[in-house]
Amino acid sequence: MNMGKRANVAVFASGTGSNFDAIMSSPDRNFDVVRLVSDKPKAHVIGKAASFGIQTIVFNPSEYEDKVAYEEELLDQLKKARVEWIVLAGYMRVIGKTILDAYEGKIINIHPSLLPSFPGIDAIGQALEAGVKVSGVTIHYVDEGIDTGEIIAQEAVTVFPHDTRESFQRRIQQVEHKLYPQVLNKLTAE
Ligand code: GAR
Repeated sequence: MNMGKRANVAVFASGTGSNFDAIMSSPDRNFDVVRLVSDKPKAHVIGKAASFGIQTIVFNPSEYEDKVAYEEELLDQLKKARVEWIVLAGYMRVIGKTILDAYEGKIINIHPSLLPSFPGIDAIGQALEAGVKVSGVTIHYVDEGIDTGEIIAQEAVTVFPHDTRESFQRRIQQVEHKLYPQVLNKLTAE
């Protein structure tokens, strides 16, 4: 148990940032979010970071020669900010070897299905299309695969017969917003 210093976390996000919001708003948060990282210069989450007073690192991957080039620059900035944990929250890009090697065992992701079912893009649409009666949320360590790392926590969400994509997604996100801050508190305290 880490009784002294609070852990420094960077949240990576590409879109709306409702999970970032939930992490920031969690009343009993015992770690510090020191950076918001986004690969989408117009992402909604960037404005949210500003409203919480969190410094942002925003980059456009298409302006770099390759993944190694932007990850090396990003890694440099993460190290300068003394980031210890990387938390992916709707970050729609695969983490490459440069960052994986530097943050081994310290990168986690949230995914809107019960992995290993429905990895990759649009897990919610995949679950509805498959007609499953139960799906859910998974929090897992990130490895070199797509949504394949060791599972840390899962919670099931029932698919109701009358569910629309919107109603089902809303319940998935309610679970995400509760589970992610809880799991992060636990991990960063160890
Ligand atoms: C979340 O539902 C998250 O689980 C999902 O993107 C959404 C981001 O929402 N992530 C993935 O699908 C990763 N493969 P947010 O921007 O409102 O937090």
